[in-house]
Amino acid sequence: MSLLEVRDLSVDFATMEGRVHVLNGVSFDVKKGEIVGIVGESGSGKTTLGLAILRLLDIPPAQYLGGSVHFEGNDVLSQEPSNLWHLRGTGMNMVFQESLISLNPVYRVESQINESINALCTSRKVELSKEERGERMLKILQELCLDQPQQVLKKYPHELSGGMRQRVSIAMSIIQTPKLLFLDEPTTGLDSYVQNRILEIIRKLNKEFGISMVLITHDLTVASQICDRIYVMYAGRVVEVGLSKQILERPFHPYSETLLAALPKGFENGPPLPIPQGEPPDLKNLPEGCKFNPRCVYAMDVCKTREPKLIPTSDSGQISCWKYS
Ligand SMILES: Nc1ncnc2c1ncn2[C@@H]1O[C@H](COP(=O)(O)OP(=O)(O)O)[C@@H](O)[C@H]1O
Ligand SMILES: [Mg+2]
Repeated sequence: MSLLEVRDLSVDFATMEGRVHVLNGVSFDVKKGEIVGIVGESGSGKTTLGLAILRLLDIPPAQYLGGSVHFEGNDVLSQEPSNLWHLRGTGMNMVFQESLISLNPVYRVESQINESINALCTSRKVELSKEERGERMLKILQELCLDQPQQVLKKYPHELSGGMRQRVSIAMSIIQTPKLLFLDEPTTGLDSYVQNRILEIIRKLNKEFGISMVLITHDLTVASQICDRIYVMYAGRVVEVGLSKQILERPFHPYSETLLAALPKGFENGPPLPIPQGEPPDLKNLPEGCKFNPRCVYAMDVCKTREPKLIPTSDSGQISCWKYS
């Protein structure tokens, strides 16, 4: 059984210009122990998908139009709001993209991590002394390779570097020992050295702590470095699912090809792949048929009139493209 099972999830937002469909029939699975990537250009609905699964969207303006989310077999979307803190604490948790925004600027790191420990104590119905809390905080910061954790605890978020803030945010999530952790663009904006350290930490948390992970990123290289499987999203839809290795070496979807072409590696082996043409999709004004058709170098007539369904590929993935239907 999957740890997380999302079926046909559709979400829209009320805007000044009317309702915008941001997620359109998204199905998505995470198995125990897996690291799953969600990859797509900015605006493809990745963050909304994470927030929708965790019931963190503001309703309104957001609205669930349909679909289901099951975590460990439990129906998440039908839960009473009062039950959700338990789910988020010890079940699923999310590290947000902007750690400078998600951390409270007026509190020291220590009191923010302490808040997470409070949540842990409430959901597990345990009590921890001040000393025990202090020990846990130091241990977790050490696990996350933060030097001089004592000093880090005394600092305010703005006194930390981007990579340190990201690790403090991760610490606040994993101190609650979730089974599944969503990381939204955890390496975006960090230099490549810090980026690699964060990826190493994610791998370690997965292997040593057994936390399953969902890595949300616009960067296919980042995803391919640590993910077992990748979901490629376009205009609020899943357009391809596959093992990381397959998507990196032999992508099926023309859009996955273009994501790959944007990587330097694409130019090393063999002829360059087609470069993405045109603009990212405007969700308020999507074309008929396949939503990628205006930018697709392979577009046929059918692509402009009918939307392809997601069908299984020869190597246990899925693809929605008329080239393969
Ligand atoms: N609160 C909101 N109100 C209206 N539209 C929103 C809101 N949040 C996100 N969107 C729209 O949803 C789309 C997907 O956004 P998002 O999930 O943040 O994409 P990604 O994380 O892939 O960059 C964007 O077009 C964005 O404008
Ligand atoms: Mg996002």
